[in-house]
Amino acid sequence: MRETALALPRKRAFGAGLLIACLHAGVLAADPDMEAGRALFVGATPACAICHTLNDAQSSGAIGPKLDELKPDAARVETAIRNGIGQMPAYTSLSDKEIEVLAAYVAKATGAQQ
Ligand code: HEC
Repeated sequence: MRETALALPRKRAFGAGLLIACLHAGVLAADPDMEAGRALFVGATPACAICHTLNDAQSSGAIGPKLDELKPDAARVETAIRNGIGQMPAYTSLSDKEIEVLAAYVAKATGAQQ
């Protein structure tokens, strides 16, 4: 009898741990592109973060428009990255995939429609 009483809470704790582990894995699996996009935003040369404010990337650059306010969709971001605009340089060294990930990230992070 004593053994059952001890075993039950342990089993519940295990179940809760498993549930938390699954939820955590789900979150990570859903957003690898957001992580990659954020890394490019702060790590591209020159970094978008130097010139732009984007809360999700904790950047406060003030040379270009605040992306949180502009809320550009992915196509608009992609055009700016590929061609440059005003003082913003064209990013010729980024691959198509990197540009796609970065553009989708900015659109999603600002809550723009994609
Ligand atoms: C040297 C500073 C600088 C860097 C670095 C920079 N930008 Fe810009 N960006 C600007 C400026 C300035 C503008 C506004 C240009 C204008 O409207 O004349 C701009 C405009 C934009 C726009 C709006 C385009 C539009 O259609 O109005 C987007 C989106 C954008 N940048 C995203 C990015 C991303 C993503 C990166 C990194 C890959 C980046 N920027 C890097 C300065 C910069």
